[in-house]
Amino acid sequence: MQYTNSFGTFLVGLLAASELAAAVPTNFRQHAPISSPPKARSTTGGNKVSLKQVRNPSHSTHQRVGALAVEKAYLKFNAAMPTDLTDAVSRIRLNLAAGRDAMGFESTAKRATGAVTTNPEEYDVEYLTPVQIGTPPQTLNLDFDTGSSDLWVYSTETPSSEVSGQTVYNANTSTTSAKQDGLSWSISYGDGSSSKGDVYYDTVLVGGLSVQDMAIETATTVSSEFTADTDIDGLLGLGFSNLNTVSPTKQSTFFDKAESQLDEFLFTADLKHSEAGTYNFGFIDTAAYTGEIYNTTVDSTQGYWMFSATGYQIGDASFQSSTIKGIADTGTTLLMLPTAIVEAYYAQVTSAAFDSSQGGYTFPCSATLPDFTLGIGAGAITVPGSYINYSPLDSANTTCFGGLQDDSAIGFAIFGDIALKSAFVVFQGGENPTIGWANKNL
Ligand SMILES: *[C@@H]1O[C@H](CO)[C@@H](O)[C@H](O)[C@H]1NC(C)=O
Ligand SMILES: *[C@@H]1O[C@H](CO)[C@@H](O)[C@H](O)[C@H]1NC(C)=O
Ligand SMILES: *[C@@H]1O[C@H](CO)[C@@H](O)[C@H](O)[C@H]1NC(C)=O
Repeated sequence: MQYTNSFGTFLVGLLAASELAAAVPTNFRQHAPISSPPKARSTTGGNKVSLKQVRNPSHSTHQRVGALAVEKAYLKFNAAMPTDLTDAVSRIRLNLAAGRDAMGFESTAKRATGAVTTNPEEYDVEYLTPVQIGTPPQTLNLDFDTGSSDLWVYSTETPSSEVSGQTVYNANTSTTSAKQDGLSWSISYGDGSSSKGDVYYDTVLVGGLSVQDMAIETATTVSSEFTADTDIDGLLGLGFSNLNTVSPTKQSTFFDKAESQLDEFLFTADLKHSEAGTYNFGFIDTAAYTGEIYNTTVDSTQGYWMFSATGYQIGDASFQSSTIKGIADTGTTLLMLPTAIVEAYYAQVTSAAFDSSQGGYTFPCSATLPDFTLGIGAGAITVPGSYINYSPLDSANTTCFGGLQDDSAIGFAIFGDIALKSAFVVFQGGENPTIGWANKNL
């Protein structure tokens, strides 16, 4: 089945987690002009699809806490967690469970509103995109993750004790689903927990792009970190297919399966600070960035979009050349860099310090943070200092957690959402994959 050329390009609206609807978008149609939706994407030009975005009034709070975002990265990359971090995370979980904030104070926000935080849009914990699976389509909100390569979902096979509000995929009610006997999947995490389950083939629709016989990995066990994250119905991996965990035969990612339908074998990520961003497949939207796209080669041997940044600059200080090998990971919230760089950065922030009880660098919320510039290819991308003021740790907004943290035990840097949302990023597939970063109007 072949799309015509004009179908090879489309646009997908992305939801910030906090803007996620509990209800599925009902106005999803190709060519559907949507009359003034909140924060809608542009629908100009070509055959592009836009999804209406609405707020979810009940979202999980736990991943917004800095240490938990750090923990998530360690678990994902199977890194041994420093004892400090393990202790910090346990203490913070107890605080949250008891209705206190991460610092252990009574949460005034909770008493006043019945919600732990009042303005979650600001923290950009994760970005969710509505994806339609099966026939008739079932809409699930998936986290598009360039740091993994499985499309896994909560399903009717997931034990109810492990489901806490997520939408589940039911293969039984899809006329296009086909169970793949003999295939199974398992993703293990650094703490020994895992998510695993069965595999079906079914049709997947992302924006206007439909892929048939896509491997849908249905969960029979979900790791507790995910169960606590009630907004995510699953992940759509956009890493390389060699990282896929289906056994005994690895399955292709959505991007690889869609290749023949795309004008150009690339996708772009245009994440935004505190608002919905956009993923495009098959074309580069020249209106989405300024200046040049700085390209650099990707080493895909480990399945990641791994590349080397050429150095960094803190505020107006001079550029320091340094090879910073790391991965572009839309599924990690923070920017995680080598110790020396992180120390040099926070040395420029008044009263900033590594706080082992919070599992990372913290500073007074009132601090003005310097910009951080990353050298990429022939150019440089600037992350505004304000993005590095990631989130308050207490309801009075006294102490804040940094969006830039140490990558020490992980083994490579992670250019997560804090960096990605500062740029327009092109993921170019093919035999010699490249990644390109461009600045944009923020
Ligand atoms: C489909 O229905 C059968 C019979 O009720 C049940 O045993 C099976 O678990 C269901 N499969 C899924 C994926 O829900
Ligand atoms: C970087 O690569 C993209 C395609 O991935 C291309 O459109 C762009 O022109 C390249 N930039 C430069 C400066 O060559
Ligand atoms: C804390 O900051 C958030 C925005 O991050 C704001 O909505 C809230 O009102 C602030 N609370 C206090 C007590 O200043």
